[in-house]
Amino acid sequence: MNRFERKILFAIGLSVFLALGGSIFLARGALREVYRVGVNERFGAELVHGVEARRGQLMALRSSTEQAADAIQWAVEAELARKRAAERLPELLEELLARYPFVTEIRVSELDGTLVTRVSRPPTDDSEPMRETSRDRAATVAARTVRIAVRVVVPEVYFERLQQAGEVADVYSRLQRQSASVSDVYVWVFGVLVFLLIVVAFLIGAIVSRRVTRRVTALAEASRKVGAGDLTVTLPTSATDEITELTQAFNDMVRDLRDSRTRIEYLQRISAWQDFARRLAHEIKNPLTPIQLAAQELDETYEGGDDGYRQKLENARGIIEEEVATLRRLVGEFSAFAKLPRADLAPADLGEVVHAIEASVPAILEDEGGGTPAPVEVHTTTATEPIRVRMDPMMLKRAVDNLVRNAVQAVHPAVPAGRGRVFVRAYKTGAAGVIEVRDNGPGIAEESWERAFDPYYTTKTEGTGLGLAIVKKVVLEHGGEVRLDRGPEGGARFTLELPLLESG
Ligand SMILES: Nc1ncnc2c1ncn2[C@@H]1O[C@H](COP(=O)(O)OP(=O)(O)O)[C@@H](O)[C@H]1O
Ligand SMILES: [Mg+2]
Repeated sequence: MNRFERKILFAIGLSVFLALGGSIFLARGALREVYRVGVNERFGAELVHGVEARRGQLMALRSSTEQAADAIQWAVEAELARKRAAERLPELLEELLARYPFVTEIRVSELDGTLVTRVSRPPTDDSEPMRETSRDRAATVAARTVRIAVRVVVPEVYFERLQQAGEVADVYSRLQRQSASVSDVYVWVFGVLVFLLIVVAFLIGAIVSRRVTRRVTALAEASRKVGAGDLTVTLPTSATDEITELTQAFNDMVRDLRDSRTRIEYLQRISAWQDFARRLAHEIKNPLTPIQLAAQELDETYEGGDDGYRQKLENARGIIEEEVATLRRLVGEFSAFAKLPRADLAPADLGEVVHAIEASVPAILEDEGGGTPAPVEVHTTTATEPIRVRMDPMMLKRAVDNLVRNAVQAVHPAVPAGRGRVFVRAYKTGAAGVIEVRDNGPGIAEESWERAFDPYYTTKTEGTGLGLAIVKKVVLEHGGEVRLDRGPEGGARFTLELPLLESG
């Protein structure tokens, strides 16, 4: 795990921890608040109060049945105390039964169990469930004791209500006792969940960050290599995310660096060759005039009568003068190459270059034909709308001129007279203004495409090999590129691409 990865993990961990820690805190607070509202003293007191009230109600009911039983006892005692005892007893009991609605039966019996009298209420068809109890009394009058059993009913619902209220109060007080520990349990469960979440987030973070950091590390490694001068590195761009964009940008940057380094290297090489050409021209040029003069003098001052020898002298003078002329031409080309200025760029229309070439085609054909114009057709075409680039028209014309001359030289001897064709055209692609020069000559073998632009590479007996070198230098100084391949007619095709001006 590297530092970057550790930082990412730390950030993930911290944010998860803060977010979830905060939510634990809030959840705990919320839970406590809920309990505080729901489980408070007053609420509890009310509940207990309710239970007490129900119990009181039941007690009152009970004591009224006791009182009824007492009243019945007294009435029976009073009745028995009369002279004509027990005669009116059933009547009295009926009366009492009518007075107390909750009494269902009154039974008076002797101590040994023999029934004296008994009254009872016929069972009502009321479906309300009742609880029946018996209140037993004893009445003693003049040494005679009777038992009085009073059956009373209390509606079941009173007991149920009391029980329910008791249960609610019970549950409530349990809740109250547990409230602190219950909320703690929730917080604990929540805490464990949070912990698991942190672990999961951590694992996911580790996996994701590893994927990202591995590629970032690869980028860093590649950048180090580029820094150390290795411009051959490229990184795979298979995935589709921001890192891929970065990698793509990195690859583009390395390619641009590579291009500009090749460019700079080529221009440096050209400048070294220019130095060399300057010295060469200088060394050769100086002796040419003395050589020519000496040959002239030898020829002109011969006074002997040997005609054969005179003839030889004249031949030698002719050869020397011809070769000196060739050398002068070469020296001229060398020093022109040596003095080649840097391209001075300004916005202009690339079509102008093609028009200028069109104008100088007759002169070129004249030159290359050696007296009569070379029998080659040169076709020039250019786009109707201007092709705006930054260029040095003179230098660029010179470059295209070199290409047209090479093309004419290539087709002139190789193609039957009158069938030689050279095409020069200017056009525009997405980001480039293009000049293309191609012909229907023999073309250049593919293995020589690189070398063709080297200075002094030539296949011609009187060639200097400087033409294409000049072309490449000029195009590179325009920030452009020159490509060589085979055209549709089978001959060589040169493509000069210059960056378009945005406004153009
Ligand atoms: N249009 C062409 N068709 C065939 N070969 C060509 C053409 N242009 C250039 N070449 C080849 O490239 C070589 C280099 O050309 P250049 O640099 O102009 O030098 P030079 O013309 O003095 O030979 C030529 O000698 C020739 O072999
Ligand atoms: Mg040439």
